[in-house]
Amino acid sequence: MSSPASNTIEELYIEQLKNLHSVEVSLIDALSEMANAATHPRIKADFAHHMEETRVHVERLEVILASHDEIGTGKTCGAMESIIRTGKELIHEKAPAAVIDAGLLVTAQLAENYEIAGYGCVQSYARVLGDAHAVTLLQKTLDEEARSSEQFCADSNELCDE
Ligand SMILES: [Fe+2]
Repeated sequence: MSSPASNTIEELYIEQLKNLHSVEVSLIDALSEMANAATHPRIKADFAHHMEETRVHVERLEVILASHDEIGTGKTCGAMESIIRTGKELIHEKAPAAVIDAGLLVTAQLAENYEIAGYGCVQSYARVLGDAHAVTLLQKTLDEEARSSEQFCADSNELCDE
């Protein structure tokens, strides 16, 4: 996660919340494109479902940032941009449908695991800083990210078994 140097855990906490906000905003568009590009109906549905959850993840981050008189920066996260771009490069437009779906699932899994790592860190900072409401909100998002990651993993296994 690229962010300006932080002097305190609280500054690091706010910077990382802003980074996650930019990640989630990028993912709304990416998941929408991925739902369109996927061919398997279940994978399409899983991407579309997680896109709706991602809108709520953005809202939760905005609630937490607002409670610290902060807002999202609108900056793009370079790491997530790179994951999304790499995913696009994996997919040859003439590849068989199952290979396209498998490539999209790679992007989805990389994105989920990046997010899970980031949310785990900010939640631990929230706990240390006594931001109890944020701990609860971040846990809801973490649970949804973990469920999506498991679902994308199951989709991948199913594709490989077909
Ligand atoms: Fe998310």
